Amino acid sequence: MSRTMVAGNWKMNTTPRQGHALVRDVLEKLGTPPTRVVFGVPEIQLMAVHEQLTDHPGYAVAAQNMHQEPRGAYTGEVSAEMLADAGVAYVILGHSERREYAGEDDDLINRKIVAAIAAGLKPIYCCGEKLAIREAGNQEVVVGKQVEQALGSLSPEQIREVVIAYEPVWAIGTGVTASSEQAQQMHDYLRRMIGNQFGSEIADNITILYGGSVKPDNAAELFAQPDVDGGLVGGASLDAQSFAAIVRAL
Ligand code: 13P
Repeated sequence: MSRTMVAGNWKMNTTPRQGHALVRDVLEKLGTPPTRVVFGVPEIQLMAVHEQLTDHPGYAVAAQNMHQEPRGAYTGEVSAEMLADAGVAYVILGHSERREYAGEDDDLINRKIVAAIAAGLKPIYCCGEKLAIREAGNQEVVVGKQVEQALGSLSPEQIREVVIAYEPVWAIGTGVTASSEQAQQMHDYLRRMIGNQFGSEIADNITILYGGSVKPDNAAELFAQPDVDGGLVGGASLDAQSFAAIVRAL
């Protein structure tokens, strides 16, 4: 399968009705997409969007979180098996907003990744440094540590299921995107890291997305980098025209 994909992360935006209209508009604009297109929608919309995508090859739905345990007394939580049974294909894990607001760390994220893969889901694992780390020039050390903790214990069979999303925290929702050089440098570093542990065949095939203020006017340049396989798009995925334009830029 091609490495490329574009995933929207709607975060806590859109009511079910608005979400339905947004998906409808994207389908209308894109038809059969030139690459994998994923909608990361609020939990309450997962099944409806999955149904809406029936007979639309190339599209899939992603959850934005899940619990690491398979079942039990965890009020308010959703398990990997529930998501898989509902037709969900991907799950975004380790997003910086969950690290910040829900206190998730890479050990917990590792457990979620393992649980997700066991249930047949493909984790979209998010990593990325904060501004102070970038300013100190320590981004590779910090992001490398995140990836080592979250993915280092996986088997070759497990890592094949993972999509990595590099999302520098200073670029998320700020309108400041990483330059294409900054993105390429980190993606190259991550691919080499995966290669060192899992071998070049796996490294050559793993999808590494860039996220952080991806817009129609910067997507083409970012996606033109050899190790940038697509985008994880926040704000711009909430507008059908922008999202479609970003997909076409790939
Ligand atoms: P923005 O595209 O709004 O910067 O968000 C990026 C993001 O966090 C995707 O997960």
